[in-house]
Amino acid sequence: MCGIVGYVGGQPALDVVVEGLARLEYRGYDSAGVALVAGGELAVEKRAGKLVNLRKALDEAPPPAASTGIGHTRWATHGAPNDTNAHPHADCSGTVAVIHNGIIENFAALRAELAENGHTLTSDTDTEAVAHLLEDEVKAGAGLADAMRRVCGRLEGAFTLVAVHTGEPDLVVGARRNSPLVVGRGDGENFLASDVAAFIAHTRDAIELGQDQVVELRADGVVVTDFSGAPADVTEYHVDWDVSAAEKGGFDYFMLKEIAEQPRAVADTLLGRIGADGRLTLDEMRISDAQLREIDKVVIVACGTAYHAGLIAKYAIEHWAGLPCEVELAHEFRYRDPILTRSTLVIAISQSGETMDTLMAVRHAREQRARVLGVCNVNGSTLPRECDGVLYTHAGPEIAVASTKAFLTQLVAVYLIALYLGQVRGTKFGDEVRDMIKVLSGMPDKLDQVLETMGPVRELARSLANEHCVLFLGRHVGFPVAMEGALKLKELAYMHAEGFAAGELKHGPIALIEQDLPVVVVVPPRARDVLHDKIVSNIQEIRARGARTIVIAEEGDTSVEPYADTLISVPAVPTLLQPLVATVPLQVFACELATAKGHDVDQPRNLAKSVTVE
Ligand code: M6R
Repeated sequence: MCGIVGYVGGQPALDVVVEGLARLEYRGYDSAGVALVAGGELAVEKRAGKLVNLRKALDEAPPPAASTGIGHTRWATHGAPNDTNAHPHADCSGTVAVIHNGIIENFAALRAELAENGHTLTSDTDTEAVAHLLEDEVKAGAGLADAMRRVCGRLEGAFTLVAVHTGEPDLVVGARRNSPLVVGRGDGENFLASDVAAFIAHTRDAIELGQDQVVELRADGVVVTDFSGAPADVTEYHVDWDVSAAEKGGFDYFMLKEIAEQPRAVADTLLGRIGADGRLTLDEMRISDAQLREIDKVVIVACGTAYHAGLIAKYAIEHWAGLPCEVELAHEFRYRDPILTRSTLVIAISQSGETMDTLMAVRHAREQRARVLGVCNVNGSTLPRECDGVLYTHAGPEIAVASTKAFLTQLVAVYLIALYLGQVRGTKFGDEVRDMIKVLSGMPDKLDQVLETMGPVRELARSLANEHCVLFLGRHVGFPVAMEGALKLKELAYMHAEGFAAGELKHGPIALIEQDLPVVVVVPPRARDVLHDKIVSNIQEIRARGARTIVIAEEGDTSVEPYADTLISVPAVPTLLQPLVATVPLQVFACELATAKGHDVDQPRNLAKSVTVE
């Protein structure tokens, strides 16, 4: 939801900013723009569409050299995605430029007030109001940082703001409330960005900014205060991945690279989980075993793919830890009256750690005194700071909008949590936990095996590129896998796709079945014989009505062969772990089908990677 970059230092600011925008384009690609402070003048260039349009404009009319600059890549909220609404926005005098991520909720009142006071606003955005408010403060004699602090005090909503002013050409000022912003510390240069990926090629030393803080960035230093100007405490950290992790590495798309990285990501997330005493250890947990023993209910909140990981977690938590578990879409959670107590463990799952819906659910849960555990992939993001404890997934940066390796590592994380709860609550013996960790440790090899056999899945996907609808069916943990398969196809191929619980078919959805409709069915392992046999019957029922059946089943499951128009075999694994191997063919299927339709799978239409607004 918008990518932001700021730079001050000895390199050409334009190059650093545009390079940063290229790495943040996954956050929004409706328009892009830069503002440079050069020779006491502001140079602003912005274009609707992807970054390539801005690059072209900059090549045709190169702006003057500058060592201070800001840049923005937009996911539109207020105002159509055109050149005028693209960021940066300047004030009336053309001396202040500002970029923004988030939504300023009181923008209408602010715009009206500014217009009444003689300002000319040229865009339809909420952001432009900030440029003019800064203008008033600067004209009244404030420096840019003071101006920003005062203006932030007038804003309602969520925002990351970054501004420059021609009067202070060596300064970039940033501010954040409920929206991400990190500082990169260089040698004689400093960076601001929505995500470390923007500056990872220059430095891996970063500073986490807290809520309601303002940062002053100069080439030789960084000053952080709260909105009142008091010095603020910050956390410095070192990013544990390098620039190669944020590059395509020879793949055509990040999504393809990220699918291929899954065995490694799963292995990394499992690394070092068994302590010297042979027990499962979750170091970052920060919630004591005694507190976990008091838990009498688990509630999982998440959105999108992370929600599907939560649905699978429910089966593992109930089975291994013997705890009741509810799963809720984070954006629905606080609008009903969830029954939460000090004995409720809320697990919030989010790859980015910045999904506003999930953060709001976490805040609601903490207000009700529930203990909150985050499952997150991004160090330095907001979620871990707002939770009582955190379990990091170690997927590395996920740049494609469609979640793949983050999903598999979220599954590993929730399996670990379920086993850990079982261990501390005594519902699982130590050897049972160790045996399951051993099986989990074998998953990277199984995933390699899956990836090696994806040729026929690609071929199948290409053959279905002209279809309009694909249905997905599953039972037990296969049901969320079906939903995940459908979500991937919707977001990448823009096709109608639905995931159903196979048992629900006869209660309505079977009416959708018509001649040659592709239906993907996730078959549980044969060891779950009752489930297995029921789904085999479901396959026969839909086939009898003309469906073209695409069956995902464990290797050696010959019982499904007569009813499968296409059979995709995956390695045999315990039922609860089957989502790890069964999801990968669905990712490959959606990616290949969308590519065959000519879509950019890294940047699907209307979407952005991190949904930082509600
Ligand atoms: O960063 P998060 O895990 O909180 O993101 C949640 C969803 O927005 C995300 O999983 C989304 O559904 C994916 N693009 C789906 O592939």
